[in-house]
Amino acid sequence: MSFVQSATLGQELSEKELLDLLFRYNIKIASERRLDRLLVLMADLGRRLVVADRCSLWLLDEDKGELWTKVAHGVAELRMPYDCGLVGHCIASGESILVDDVYNNPHFNREMDALNSYKTQAVLVIPIRNNEGKVMGAYQAVNKLTQAAKFSAKDLEHLTLIATYSGKSLETAMLLKEIEDTQREIIFTMSEVGEMRSKETGNHVMRVAQYCYLLAQYHGLAPDECELLRMAAPMHDIGKIGIPDSILKKPGKLTVDEFEVMKTHSMLGYEMLKNSRRPILKAAAIVAKEHHEKYDGTGYPNGSKGDEIHIYGRICAIADVFDALACERVYKKAWPLDKVLDLFRNEKNKHFDGCLVDLMFEHLPEFEEIGRLYKDH
Ligand SMILES: [Fe+2]
Ligand SMILES: [Fe+2]
Repeated sequence: MSFVQSATLGQELSEKELLDLLFRYNIKIASERRLDRLLVLMADLGRRLVVADRCSLWLLDEDKGELWTKVAHGVAELRMPYDCGLVGHCIASGESILVDDVYNNPHFNREMDALNSYKTQAVLVIPIRNNEGKVMGAYQAVNKLTQAAKFSAKDLEHLTLIATYSGKSLETAMLLKEIEDTQREIIFTMSEVGEMRSKETGNHVMRVAQYCYLLAQYHGLAPDECELLRMAAPMHDIGKIGIPDSILKKPGKLTVDEFEVMKTHSMLGYEMLKNSRRPILKAAAIVAKEHHEKYDGTGYPNGSKGDEIHIYGRICAIADVFDALACERVYKKAWPLDKVLDLFRNEKNKHFDGCLVDLMFEHLPEFEEIGRLYKDH
């Protein structure tokens, strides 16, 4: 039985529907700068434009010699060697491919169908080029959902049109992602330098970042703010760079005076970061300054209380303490979860913002999952 006999058929778009679709998506695509969301938009547009069952946008990862896609309809992220299958052939040759029955085509890779329990029949692949004309990926539409069951020259024309006009948005989003990945790497490396000087363990900053992200989401912060906090949270103790080794690495308990010096790490971190105009570093300055403030006003450096403490500071305080207690350190064993939770119950509305503590309790399995995912080795 052919794919089309078993699928729900659709109709070719009328000229008006086509223009409507292009107009609506054109605006969204031109204003979308995040690569993952852009890939979804472009795949959706492609699928609807040529009435395909699936559409995906494959990008070339030159470092790994692979093609990857984040969105194929009904399928999670996929990766494959750069020269694999029809997409690989299209990218290597720079030529569009229009095939009615792929099982008769020597370039088709049947393994993908077997892996995804799917039957590919008709395929349309269009190369996507960057500003300099170099192929950076390909659009692939799979299985035509009309009675004809094959893609037409018109489909090829339409998909080529959107591949051309979306190429620029795609390139901008890829550059932005590259910049953000670089920033993320620098931030984690910087943070680890700070943590390594003190007695924190390897993945502490990673876990704190993920706990903060969870709490920020459940608290209802906007997606961009959640992401900002996730990027900034690893730098909460960056000010420890300025604390002398004799105190930072002292094996035993600190004297009162030594503890006063240790406490300066929050303002030191803030001073290091506060003049930046970059949103991530601005957020990091807040986190560095306020992660030891307490909800009842007994924390440091300012003794701020309640909502005077920035939400980033209130979130990071929970994430930092939760991780410090739940994980083993050179100087202490990991606390059993019950004991950690007792502390949070007791410190609700004292050390910690009670609403955030409730959110943590509500979503505890996700916290535990992060602990498992980023376990120290
Ligand atoms: Fe700290
Ligand atoms: Fe910490």
